[in-house]
Amino acid sequence: MPDSATKEQTMIEKIQAGKKLESPDEMTDEYRQHLLTLMIAQADSELAGAYGYVPWIEGAPTVAEKLAMANIVKDECRHAKAIYDLLEKLGANVNKLVFEDKMKNRLKVFYEPIRTWADLVMFNFLMDRAAGHQLHDAAECSWGPWSRTMIEIEKEELMHVKHGETWVRKLALDPKQKADVQKALDFWFPKVNKIFGKGETDTNKRFRHFKLKQRDNQEVRVSWYQEIKPLLESYELKVPDITVVE
Ligand SMILES: [Fe+2]
Ligand SMILES: [Fe+2]
Repeated sequence: MPDSATKEQTMIEKIQAGKKLESPDEMTDEYRQHLLTLMIAQADSELAGAYGYVPWIEGAPTVAEKLAMANIVKDECRHAKAIYDLLEKLGANVNKLVFEDKMKNRLKVFYEPIRTWADLVMFNFLMDRAAGHQLHDAAECSWGPWSRTMIEIEKEELMHVKHGETWVRKLALDPKQKADVQKALDFWFPKVNKIFGKGETDTNKRFRHFKLKQRDNQEVRVSWYQEIKPLLESYELKVPDITVVE
């Protein structure tokens, strides 16, 4: 058995060489803890995201949209299952996570009420895209199984992002709906802006040290904002400033 200093050094050298870890035996305890934290947060967000869309199968304005909502729910449940399967292989107690700890660390944004179709599509526009930006780092991470799973998940997330975009454009360009869409943007923007977390935290630095994340939180936030701002402005919506924090 290598001593822990040797194990850490071998692991870091492999990560810095751009290689992926493939076996739990290769990880130090600290790496494993950080990996679990990030994957548990993702798995819970996938589930919470699915639950948010569920009422909109009934609330959708057309039959085609009911199917679109049902498909997003199915995708999010599949994403949750894929990540919980990875967690199980790392020895996590998935039933405890899902049924006992469920609300412990859930992102606040998932507790916000989605009251109208305009709210739903704006949530879809801002939040699926935000998740896409955050999870892109996971697709490039140093834990091989998570990285490969994320490459698959990203393809479906792109479809969700497109769905939000189509609908926000459609409602924003309808003079009767425009005010509601602006209201939905003003409601959701600060809440989604917050999910990225503070810039330059010590935890984020450790995540980057282990290549579990590739960028600082603020960098991810800015890349999200630089995408949504010109899009929303092209629909003649007024975009809040990125420094708005609730
Ligand atoms: Fe997802
Ligand atoms: Fe999604």
